[in-house]
Amino acid sequence: MCGIVGILGKEDVAHDIVDALRRLEYRGYDSAGVATIVERGLQRRRAEGKLRNLEARLVEVPLGGKAGIGHTRWATHGKPTETNAHPHMSARVSVVHNGIIENFRELRDEMVAAGCQFESETDTETIVHLITHYLDAGKSHLEAVQETLQRLTGAFALGIIFADDDDLMIAARQGSPLAIGHGTGEVYLGSDAIALAPFTNKITYLDEGDYAVLRRETVEIYDRDGVRVERPKVQAVAGALTVDKGNHRHFMHKEIHEQPEVVSHTLAHYIDMSTHQVAIPDLGLDLAKVDRVTISACGTAYYAGLVAKYWIERYARVPVEIDVASEMRYREAPLADNGLAVFVSQSGETADTLATLRYCKENGQRIASIVNVRSSTIARESDAIMPILAGPEIGVASTKAFTCQLSALACLAIALGKARGQIDEALEQELVGALTEMPRHISSVVRTEADYLPLATELSKARDILYLGRGMSFPIAMEGALKLKEISYIHAEGYAAGELKHGPIALIDEKVPVIVIAPKDALFEKTISNMQEVAARGGRIVLVSDAPPEAFGAEVMHQVVMPTVHPFVSPIVSAIPIQLIAYHTAVFMGTDVDQPRNLAKSVTVE
Ligand code: G6P
Repeated sequence: MCGIVGILGKEDVAHDIVDALRRLEYRGYDSAGVATIVERGLQRRRAEGKLRNLEARLVEVPLGGKAGIGHTRWATHGKPTETNAHPHMSARVSVVHNGIIENFRELRDEMVAAGCQFESETDTETIVHLITHYLDAGKSHLEAVQETLQRLTGAFALGIIFADDDDLMIAARQGSPLAIGHGTGEVYLGSDAIALAPFTNKITYLDEGDYAVLRRETVEIYDRDGVRVERPKVQAVAGALTVDKGNHRHFMHKEIHEQPEVVSHTLAHYIDMSTHQVAIPDLGLDLAKVDRVTISACGTAYYAGLVAKYWIERYARVPVEIDVASEMRYREAPLADNGLAVFVSQSGETADTLATLRYCKENGQRIASIVNVRSSTIARESDAIMPILAGPEIGVASTKAFTCQLSALACLAIALGKARGQIDEALEQELVGALTEMPRHISSVVRTEADYLPLATELSKARDILYLGRGMSFPIAMEGALKLKEISYIHAEGYAAGELKHGPIALIDEKVPVIVIAPKDALFEKTISNMQEVAARGGRIVLVSDAPPEAFGAEVMHQVVMPTVHPFVSPIVSAIPIQLIAYHTAVFMGTDVDQPRNLAKSVTVE
């Protein structure tokens, strides 16, 4: 989603602001801008589209100023035009904003009635007019912002500068993250620490409801009640700040290749490798007494949760309720006493997931979250976290976070099964053995990457592609379809193989490739029967399986040959081919793989 950068520097800052914004590009955006304080007041440059357009604008009409704010905007209120791009400003104040002001219409009406002229369609401009209004009424900079904050409803992060003070920036956080970077005689603001990596690794994260007064030599932070508070200055982990493609053409490619390593790290966090026993953090409740698990998440993280439902129900015999967070947050679902609610989120900032977490908390659930960003809001609002050790994921389409989420969830399922007496020592050893072998299998699949090129060429000609799977391969089929559609823009759907006859089979002809995920497990024969139904109707089959060709009994266009793995881990290993299929198809089609159109990495609005 949108990115915020602010700098009170010693030299002209526009160039550094754009550089820092570039580090936030992965979040997805459709326009960008920068504003600085110069002698004659506030000045800004904005441009539609990518940052290179803004840079070109800055070359045409350079922008001086040692204090400034910048923004990459992912349109919510109003089209992605230059007029709607941030920063928004009046003669006195300039504002960058992430998130949504829910009551902006009434505020806007009020401002219009008071004689304000709006130039954009954004909710953000309301904030500019409100602050200006309070300044005009004689309030100080801080008072004007405090008064304004009290009027705003919604989730937001703000960076604010003032025409008449080049040593002042005010930041506010309510629902969208903000980090302050401490330099020497300089201070920085960023919507995440990655943006600030070139400047400093000394970071302070604002808490929910905080606002801060930044000057080059001092930072004052206030909580939502206006009480001056101290927030810790932390050293951002070096690894969290490296945003480098290395030798890879795309971040997504690098992240696919990192999986053997990051999955190992994640497993090592939850498994005692010397005893092959699972040891997850104390979730603050007796796992033996958990009667129901509720899982919620969005996008790829939701599919990780769906695989976990199969694991937990089968191996721990605990019923699992799962739903996408955008639905669960409003469903008013009754929740069990002594229930465990698990939230899966790479970013830890997804608005719907966070709202569902709060609903579950209010309804007495113990909250555990599986997150990649430990400083995230979801992590902080959870009773316990199970971090994944994926490292920063930059490609919008999630890959390594998915397999790490699955790895952590698999350990959670084993821990639950053990606690409830469903998994004995021998079974634990068997399942843990399967998990620890998995990085090697993932590696062996990644090494066959060259085999995907002819397949990708073929698939790129299709308009529609179906993915089929049964059991734990069903969520992987849906994840495969999601991955393909988000980066190649080919329409794809994932179905439970058994549902084929209830509708999708009508779509089958020689133009529709059907990707069948069929590991040689207990359900293999059933899935193969469905595959034969496709073949009989001229469908072109791509089979992802470890079975030998004589086991299919039908002609396949292409087989992705998989290693034979324990059925428990097969959804994790099967995730790799579906990532490679999507990646190479998209590369062949020439799309913007790391930043697909209209998508955002971190969805902090509803
Ligand atoms: C966006 C991203 C997806 C991600 C989903 C949930 O849609 O593009 O890759 O799966 O959000 O994000 P989260 O950070 O909560 O895992």
